[in-house]
Amino acid sequence: MSTYMWNTFCPTLFGTGAARETGTKAKELGMNRVMVCTEKALCEFKVATQVIDALKEAGLEVFVFDKCKADAPSDICDEGAEFVRNHEIDGIVAVGGGSTLDTAKAVCIIISQNGTTIRDYYSIEEDAHEMKLITLNTTSGTGSELSQWAVIGDVETGRKEMPVYKPDMAIVDPALTYSVPAGTTAATGMDVLAHCVEAITNRNYNPYGYIFGKEGIRLTMKWLPVAVKEPENKVAREQMSLAANLGGMAISACGCQIGHSFAQTFGAMNHIPHGLGCAWGLPGVMTYTAKYGERSNLEIVAEAMDVSWDDNTSTMELADMLAGKVIELMRQLKIKSIKDQGYTLEDCLKSADIFVYDGAFGNSPGNPGMKEITDYIEYTYSIY
Ligand SMILES: [Fe+2]
Repeated sequence: MSTYMWNTFCPTLFGTGAARETGTKAKELGMNRVMVCTEKALCEFKVATQVIDALKEAGLEVFVFDKCKADAPSDICDEGAEFVRNHEIDGIVAVGGGSTLDTAKAVCIIISQNGTTIRDYYSIEEDAHEMKLITLNTTSGTGSELSQWAVIGDVETGRKEMPVYKPDMAIVDPALTYSVPAGTTAATGMDVLAHCVEAITNRNYNPYGYIFGKEGIRLTMKWLPVAVKEPENKVAREQMSLAANLGGMAISACGCQIGHSFAQTFGAMNHIPHGLGCAWGLPGVMTYTAKYGERSNLEIVAEAMDVSWDDNTSTMELADMLAGKVIELMRQLKIKSIKDQGYTLEDCLKSADIFVYDGAFGNSPGNPGMKEITDYIEYTYSIY
């Protein structure tokens, strides 16, 4: 075994009703004047309001910044930092989906660097941590509540950038996900599956990818269809919250690979929800890994997905079975295909040139050049 680094994960309070403890936890971290970084809809639908109430009950002063939106646009991050300064904020509580939590991380980076725009700090590796951050995820998907990456959409280049800031605490309350609609539950759940599979199959794979990723796959295959069909099913929501958290740990330990590169390049160019892009990109991860990665990693995925093989099964046959299993799940969840969404192969191929700028791309096995990327995109487009 070669040497490897693994991440020390952020303290996580997990369980139904955990959000009620946000005020106590914020106080323990020394917060007094808190910015709640969230989305308008989460205030309207009384999701963020539960957290705001908990903070106020604990005696904290609360200032709501509700401008977060999909893709964490860089200009919103900059606005958030200005809001922090204008209100003399000393702690941030982020409540929302992955983009909202990433926006909050970006705000923390700008403040910690004493800067004005996140655009100056895309390659930052967290050399300063001057703002305490608590994250509460309202979807079971990105694992952003505990991961170190802030995936930011640059408003000028259109690229996804990934500076680093670790939250001080994650609060995972499955009850916050009850009102997520079926389509979003399905797409964000596919993001979980993609994290777990890509962590296990990429070139940085290590035992933590195995532990977290394998269990994350097992839970997602079992509970995602239930959570989509029965949004109020408490067990399904709890198990998917756990799966998402495990997926976040798996990618914190190992990273993702080419599937996320597709989701983050083609997705950014066309404003496609991250989970949907990850779902489309996942079957191709199996066949790409069969060509350039380790068969043993695909066997781990197969065990977790309950796919059988034997010594006579070729590596590509195994990958085809795994891709088929993913496609079967996507059909069950009624996830639309790239074609159904109106995109052509030519549209997809336009993203090939910018794969190399994606943060996950370097983790892909092999040494992918333009031919390998083009083959991957053509397969991805044709298979579903
Ligand atoms: Fe993801």
